[in-house]
Amino acid sequence: MLTSRVMANKWRVRFGLTVTFWLLSLHLIFAHDVKSPTALLIKEDSDDLNNAEETHLEDEDPEDLEVFRPTDKWQTLRPGQAVPAGSHVRLNLQTGQREVKMGEEEGFKYWKDGNRQGMMNMDSHSFTAEELKKALKKFKKGADDPVDQQEEDAVRAKFRPMDELKKDMEALDMLVETDIQVMRRLLDQFNNTNSTTEEKVAALLDLEYLVHQVDNAQNLVSMGGMSLVIRYLNSTDVRLQECAAFVLGSAVSSNPSVQVEAVEGGALQKLLTLLATQRPMTVKKKVLFAVASLLRHFPFAQSHFLKLGGVQVLSELFQTPGAEAMRVRIITVLYDMIIEKELISQVGLDIIPDSSHQERLRQYAEVSLLPVLVEQGWCRLVPELLESPEHDWREKALRTLLAMMAQCQTQFKQNAGLTASLSELQKQYQELVLTEQDVGEEDGYFGEILTLVDSMVVKMRQV
Ligand SMILES: *[C@@H]1O[C@H](CO)[C@@H](O)[C@H](O)[C@H]1NC(C)=O
Ligand SMILES: *[C@@H]1O[C@H](CO)[C@@H](O)[C@H](O)[C@H]1NC(C)=O
Ligand SMILES: *[C@@H]1O[C@H](CO)[C@@H](O)[C@H](O)[C@H]1NC(C)=O
Repeated sequence: MLTSRVMANKWRVRFGLTVTFWLLSLHLIFAHDVKSPTALLIKEDSDDLNNAEETHLEDEDPEDLEVFRPTDKWQTLRPGQAVPAGSHVRLNLQTGQREVKMGEEEGFKYWKDGNRQGMMNMDSHSFTAEELKKALKKFKKGADDPVDQQEEDAVRAKFRPMDELKKDMEALDMLVETDIQVMRRLLDQFNNTNSTTEEKVAALLDLEYLVHQVDNAQNLVSMGGMSLVIRYLNSTDVRLQECAAFVLGSAVSSNPSVQVEAVEGGALQKLLTLLATQRPMTVKKKVLFAVASLLRHFPFAQSHFLKLGGVQVLSELFQTPGAEAMRVRIITVLYDMIIEKELISQVGLDIIPDSSHQERLRQYAEVSLLPVLVEQGWCRLVPELLESPEHDWREKALRTLLAMMAQCQTQFKQNAGLTASLSELQKQYQELVLTEQDVGEEDGYFGEILTLVDSMVVKMRQV
């Protein structure tokens, strides 16, 4: 807040700017004219600034810069449209287009778009489209009519030279709330005994967003946030348990150094305890997500998981009435571990082994998952998933069954239900493949599933 006030007073109306740059910094430029101070804090690559310098506004008719009128619905922003301060701007990842709506929420909003990111101050008055139009007109007059010296001077007085502006941008850069500062603020909010549960939940959800970035996740560790989050896994409030697991799962995703910290901080034990005890399914879903992220590509965590009885915990969860929706996720965790180990040993066949590869092989060798799966009844449990009406569940089950074939073949052969399911599926998918071919799809999804079914049938017959 303080930051935005300081900034707002520094900025003046000026139009001798470049189009690109002008659009980017529109919020700042106009901040001076609004009654209550507002600022969109932008972190901008200096390269972009330099490039922007080359296109001058004089080349463009400022009237062409249409003013966008945000409503309370998201609307696509067309190139060249100017956005009033206080609007929400987001990037639609599907269309790649910028979308805008009226800012109505209080407080700060985090946004990120390519290299740009910042906090948008939301409790701000936005200047009106009329104000903007008026200002544009004024500029146009000044630029088109240099004879009117007095007016030109008046307009020029409102412009600021580019270097001055750049200086301001540098100052701004320093005043931008960095991700670390945002995280500090969120952690303080989360760690403050005076915060309500709602405030803590909100802080965790914002943190969850930030820790998708590798650096932020590592900062979470160095700032003491990871151990705090792990501690909250067994908070007495289920919403806090759920959110803590969510933050943890996102922070460790594809982030080996953070995975190490989480396992060493005792996260796995706590997560498994949450899965093994009575909790709402919403909590268990996020906890399973965290477990999966923690185990992925991390053999050390996987052998730890085995030692802690993780497979047994998952077996029980798989058979818990009411947890059916989680079955496919559970199978996926197990399947991913089987395949990961298999792939790493295959890679070993054709690359020149270096010491780190040897170490990985050694670590994976310690993960002896398949015998534990057999022992815990998974040769019988996985076929149950074939009864699901969902194609992707069946697909996942078939892939897992094939991966377990060597260990489970005897049990599979004795399982009359499995044999019946397979021949039923074979019929179904043969028909579905025909419908796929009717619409000209040769290598369709149903064909893929049929291949898996056929392969199961063949392998079960093998001696
Ligand atoms: C919590 O609130 C009390 C009373 O309002 C205040 O004295 C204390 O400093 C606050 N604690 C923190 C950590 O903000
Ligand atoms: C949380 O608060 C405690 C006591 O107020 C403090 O010792 C600890 O460092 C804080 N943790 C974080 C991550 O801010
Ligand atoms: C959380 O778990 C730890 C050990 O895992 C225990 O010492 C602590 O008392 C638990 N806290 C709550 C609130 O249950």
